[in-house]
Order: sequence, then structure tokens, then C-alpha cells
Amino acid sequence: MPAISFQGVTKVYQGGQGPFRALDGVSFDIAEGEFFGLLGPNGAGKTTLISILAGLARATEGRVTVMGHDVVSDFAQARHALGIVPQELVFDPFFSVRETLRIQSGYFGVRHNDDWIDEVLAGLGLADKANANMRQLSGGMKRRVLVAQALVHRPPVIVLDEPTAGVDVELRQTLWQFVARLNQQGHTVLLTTHYLEEAEALCGRIAMLKRGQIVALDRTSNLLHAAGGSMLRFKTDDALPPALQARARVTGRIAQVSARDAADVEAVLAQLRAAGVRVEDLEIGRADLEDVFLAIMQGTATPAPAPRQEVPA
Ligand SMILES: Nc1ncnc2c1ncn2[C@@H]1O[C@H](COP(=O)(O)OP(=O)(O)O)[C@@H](O)[C@H]1O
Ligand SMILES: [Mg+2]
Repeated sequence: MPAISFQGVTKVYQGGQGPFRALDGVSFDIAEGEFFGLLGPNGAGKTTLISILAGLARATEGRVTVMGHDVVSDFAQARHALGIVPQELVFDPFFSVRETLRIQSGYFGVRHNDDWIDEVLAGLGLADKANANMRQLSGGMKRRVLVAQALVHRPPVIVLDEPTAGVDVELRQTLWQFVARLNQQGHTVLLTTHYLEEAEALCGRIAMLKRGQIVALDRTSNLLHAAGGSMLRFKTDDALPPALQARARVTGRIAQVSARDAADVEAVLAQLRAAGVRVEDLEIGRADLEDVFLAIMQGTATPAPAPRQEVPA
């Protein structure tokens, strides 16, 4: 049984300019124990997908289950299996941190939860803020409480929607250490982020969402491999030969060309030389997830990673 299953999920919003398809036939499964990344540019539909998962929005078509429970027909069980860290900060400013977490525990029917609450507070670097009022906390501290709130009922599946957007490096490290530990203990994690280096470091598999559709889904290592092992970066004022233009990303004077291996790097350099392209500041580095992401979003990935599913290890 997958921890999360999305089956043909479509979401159509009725807007001023007619219907808008925010999700279009999204299907994939996340196995128990995975650390899974959902990446996509702003507006791709990540939050919409998570809202449907959380039961906060209804899919127009399709079905979603959490630990086998349908999020619509079996809402309470599905919701109980989930700990959701939302993208937006929403709080009652009058409660203290501990009160906020006790109320959330009560909502899930968990009593006498202070030992676990203390553990979560310590893990997130919030121990000395337990009695502070929510309105006294900085944005970064509020974000930590949001994470703690998602975890009070020890959900088997943890979902984080851009939890590190705009937060400082220290919180990002604290948060990832804590979430990685929970994942090692068997919790399934679904993360959306636009910090690609975080996804690369943490996620075993990654799905890329573009305009409501999954355009790539694979093990992180396979995605990195599919992008070409290396990336040539250089500056030039000259036009690239057509064969290279097709596989290059050009931003102003900076060109980036992916290459599969050392022989391919040599072939690219030979083509540049043959075309008389003058190259400055040449660097050859390993392709990273950002290169893969941009290539897929621009449709220039070589070879094109077809949307495919692979059974997780
Ligand atoms: N309640 C809504 N009504 C109408 N359109 C919406 C609503 N929520 C989101 N959208 C639109 O759906 C698309 C996907 O949004 P969202 O899921 O928030 O993307 P992401 O989280 O990937 O940035 C966007 O174009 C957004 O404007
Ligand atoms: Mg979002």
C-alpha cells in the first residue's frame, strides 16, 4: 500500500476568464518511508495538489488516498495520517506556543502529549519559546511552530509545502535535521520546495510539475544522470552553431551546454572551435538539479526524460 496515491487528479478553477485547469491528470504513488520531492515553478499547482491531499480543496476529477484512506470518503482517517505544514503562516496570536500545540493535539484526540511536544520543541530549537505568545515570535520562529503543529499527533506521513521559503539558513538546517531523523524512523515525507539543492540533498525521488502536469518523475540520481553528467559554462559574444544552440541555455553572454561524458565535452569544444566561437571563462562542472530542472521546464533536456514511474527501492 502506498503512503500517498494520486490517481488522475484534475482541478479546474472557475475564474473570471473562464475555467482554469490548475492540475491536469496527475498520477503517482509515494511509497511508505520515501523522502519525496515535488518541484515546479510558481503556479505549477503544487499547493493545489497538497490542498486536495489535505482535504482543503476538492479534486474536479480523480482520487487521492493516504495510507489507503480516501481523502474524501474517508476524510478523518486520511487527515489523521497526515501532518501538513502549510505554505502560509496562520495562527491565533493569543495562545502561547505550548497552548497552540496542546490545542492541535486535542483536535486530533491526543491527550497527555507534553512529552512528545517537548521532544518536538527541542528538535526544532523551540524549547525556550514554549511559553512565548505566538504574536511575540519572529517569522522564522512561527514557521517552526507550524512544523511542530503538523507533528503533534505523530503522523506517519509528513507534508511540507515550501517550508523554507524566506527562512534563515539556521532554521533550514535545524528543520532538515529533524525531518531527516523522522524519515529515518520510518515517516514518509513529501516536500515541495524551490530550493533545488535541498531537494537534491534530501529526496530519494523527485517529481517535476509544470502547468498542472507531471513532466518528470524519477530517482534523483537518475534525473541528475539524464541531464548529462557535466555542464560546460562559458561566456561568448558569438552565436553558437545550430547543433549546440539546440542543447544550450543562453542567458546574456553566458552559455551553458550539457554533456554526457568526457568524450562529449571534447565534442562540444571541437564544435565551438570549428565554428570559430571565442570562449571566455570556461568552466566544466557537474550538472546539478537546477540544470535538470531548467532543461526540463524549457523542454531542452537531452535525452528528454519522459514522464515515467519507477518503483522505489
Ligand atoms: N482558489 C483558487 N482559485 C483560482 N485559481 C487558483 C486558486 N488557487 C490557485 N489557483 C491558481 O492555480 C495555479 C496553481 O497554483 P498553486 O497550486 O498555488 O501553485 P504553486 O503552489 O505550484 O505555486 C495558479 O495559476 C493559481 O493562480
Ligand atoms: Mg505553492
